[in-house]
Order: sequence, then structure tokens, then C-alpha cells
Amino acid sequence: MSEFHQYIETHKERFLNELVDFLKMPSISADPKHKQDVQDCANWVAEKMKAIGLDDVEIYPTEGHPIVFGEKIVDTSLPTVLVYGHYDVQPPDPLNLWHQPPFEPVIKDGKIIARGAADDKGQVYMHFKAIEALSNKGALPCNVKFLIEGEEEVGSDHLEDFVRSNADKLACDTILISDTSMLGPDTPSITTGLKGLSYLEVEVTGPNRDLHSGIYGGAVANPINTLCEMIASLKNDKGQITIPGFYDEVLNYSEEERAEIARAPFSEEEYKKHLDIEETSGEEGYSTLERTGIRPTLDVNGIWGGYIGEGAKTVLPSKAFAKISMRLVPNQTCDEITEKFTKHFESIAPKSVKVEVRPHHGGDPAVTDITSNGYLAAAEAMEKVWKKTPVPVKAGGSIPIVALFQEVLKQQVILLGFGLDEDAIHSPNESYRLSHFYKGIETICEFHEAYLKQSKA
Ligand code: BES
Ligand code: MN
Ligand code: MN
Repeated sequence: MSEFHQYIETHKERFLNELVDFLKMPSISADPKHKQDVQDCANWVAEKMKAIGLDDVEIYPTEGHPIVFGEKIVDTSLPTVLVYGHYDVQPPDPLNLWHQPPFEPVIKDGKIIARGAADDKGQVYMHFKAIEALSNKGALPCNVKFLIEGEEEVGSDHLEDFVRSNADKLACDTILISDTSMLGPDTPSITTGLKGLSYLEVEVTGPNRDLHSGIYGGAVANPINTLCEMIASLKNDKGQITIPGFYDEVLNYSEEERAEIARAPFSEEEYKKHLDIEETSGEEGYSTLERTGIRPTLDVNGIWGGYIGEGAKTVLPSKAFAKISMRLVPNQTCDEITEKFTKHFESIAPKSVKVEVRPHHGGDPAVTDITSNGYLAAAEAMEKVWKKTPVPVKAGGSIPIVALFQEVLKQQVILLGFGLDEDAIHSPNESYRLSHFYKGIETICEFHEAYLKQSKA
């Protein structure tokens, strides 16, 4: 049992009540109606930073949502850990699938259920309480800086400028993030890669107005049919993406590295059972963990056009739309892939329609070094609290700012996340296991101590 365990045990009720307050705030970054709620949440985060003893706590307004920063420099000769996380959440829609309102947290079966429970408020708050627990013991082992933003779920648009123009303020020895998941409650893992993202919207226009589908149908291109054909052609029968040059920069993994991935404890049967599917599906020649971890992907996230109301309306629509995301792996870049997609998509459009491609947010992929002091400290801390050596795994998700941190701050990022697949992040009834919340706090305390030791070694 670690020395922090007792402190956490004694204060667990209060920690949970504070998390409940955090989760009650509907800080939905995507929805302009919630701008004030996001601001209120930033104020709350700043207050909690002060409460755990951070200095120079400040809320930085941006053209989007505010960034909150605070730090505790105990001794300039000690290493500095920059903690990053986000206090914004995804929209809770579809609301009718929630068993209770998304911003009225409920505790059930050892889990806290609310939007943001695991992504990322529950995980961010573990860091606050870890600093509290460490301070209770005495001086912090390392200096800390907290950078908690409000726009991660919408692409971290304004954080890039902030990081570039405040590189001195953010100077650190490593960056610690809890915004990922582990393989299972008994299978601790540390994320060693995040995918990049190119997200865009396409608009296909046929005739200049909606038409009668009997009078014109068969003679005039239907933009919905055409869009579907265009999208279908983006993959071949091996599940490979057909955009010319798409795989040019893709890092190919060695046989040893692939064998390492195959050793990760992962059950394909359990995976299928959880999702209620008979078969998984993807690029030929790769396993599920390879498809999600090391291979780039392309998915339609939404598609619409024509009549979608009650009953039938016989219409040949003028327009069709889709939102498409591509998840990228090293050494692809968002800019290069966005350009290749745009060129290709325009080139495959038949003359019967016009096509417009509009890029949204994106980010570059990132990988972390498993030999860094930070990774070794994280592995040591995990092992101490979870009683097993953590396995390194590559995630399919993205955290857009990570690649920029590595570029600008020139330090390693440690992705020490405690979520689980069962958390249903971005879905209705998002949850977070309370045991992970408490063990996560303990692990983070151990990390700071282990990191100091690693840095001296
Ligand atoms: N925390 C997630 C990313 C994540 C989750 C990575 C689980 C690995 C495992 C993050 O909040 C997220 O949802 N990111 C978005 C990107 C963004 C630009 C909207 C994503 O991956 O879709
Ligand atoms: Mn997140
Ligand atoms: Mn998210």
C-alpha cells in the first residue's frame, strides 16, 4: 500500500463531491449557447488550482474558450512536470439515450456517470488531488505547471498560438497527460502513440434546385447517389484507402514491433461481444490493435441531404453533404493528407456535379519514447499501484496539441491515462470507475516521486 493511499482513503468522499461539482457544469465547447458555462467552468478550475496551492493562477481568454494556467515552483533546481488536460466536454447528444440528465452526475455500480466523467474532467481532477496529497506529505517532489484548456474537443484551435508565444512560461522537463485509456482494469497500459487527424466536410451540388424525382430522376445526377459512389470508391476491396499517395509517408513497423503489439493482452472475442458485432472489419493483413494503433483510417462521420422528415417526399435533391475524418499515423501530416484528399475528391467527381471540400480542424500524429525518464517513472508508478508492469499501446484517438508540445517545448509527453473502453466517452451515459479515479490519484503521486528519482539517476 502506498503512503498516499491513506490520505486518499480519508478524503475520498470530499474528492468525489468536488468532482461532482466539476461534472455539473455543461462546458460544451462546440455549442455557442454554452459559452458562459465554459467560462464558468474555467473560473472553477482556476479556483481549484488556488485551493491546492498553485501560484500565479491565471485565466487566459482566447478568441474561443479560455485557457487556465497555474504553477508551483518549489525549487528551480528540481525537474518540472507540465500537466495538460481539458475541461471542455463533447455535446451530450442524443439526449434521449441517457438514463439520467448528462450534467446531473449519478453514482452507480462503482462508477460516476455524467458527460466528461472520463473525458477528461475525472482524469484532470486526479491531478489536482494528487498535488493536494503530495503537499500534505511535505514539499512537492517536482515543480508543477498546470495547463488546462477549454477547446480540446473542438481541435485546440487557440492553444497552438498560446503555446508558441508562451514557450518560456511552459518550459518543463516533461509533459504529463491523463486523457487516454488503459487496456483493462487488470491490464495496466501506457499509451505510446496518438493518431493525427484530418477532418473535412464535403458538399456535392447537382441541379440548381430540388427537383421532382419522377420528372427528372434518371436523367439528372442525384448528388446523394453520386456522393455515396465517391465515398465508396475511397476504399478498395482490401480495405485500403485509394487516395493517391495516401500511404507514401506511413511509417512501417518492423516484425519485432508487430510481435510486441500482438503480445498485448487483448481479446478479439470480448471486443466483438462488447460491440455486439459478428466480425471486425478493416485493412487486410492487420490485426484489430494494428488497425486502430498503427494504420491510418478513413471514416464518414455524418452524411445528409434531401428529405429526412416524417413520411415520404419524392425529391431529387440539389445538394448532399458529408463529414469525413482521416486518422493519421507517423509520418503523415494533416496538411499533406488534407491536400491529397481534396485533390483526389475533386478529381473523381463526375461532370454532372460540382464538389467543394472544406477542411476543419486537425492535428499531427505523435509517438512517445518508452526509454525516456518520464515513461520509466510512469511505468514504475503504475506497477507500484496496479501490481503489474504496464504494457505500451498505441491509441486510435487524437489529442491535437501533443505533437505541437513535442515540437515547441521539445520534451517528451507521457500519456498516463486511466480510462477504459467501457467508459463510453463521447457516447450517452459516459462513465468513469471510481476505483480508477482513486488509484489514478495514487499513481500520479507515485509518478512525481519516481520522476524525481529518474531525473537524478
Ligand atoms: N481524450 C480523447 C482522445 C483519446 C481518447 C485518445 C481515448 C486515446 C484514447 C480526446 O478528448 C478526443 O476525443 N480527441 C478527439 C480529437 C478532437 C480534435 C476532436 C478525437 O480523437 O476524436
Ligand atoms: Mn479527452
Ligand atoms: Mn474527447
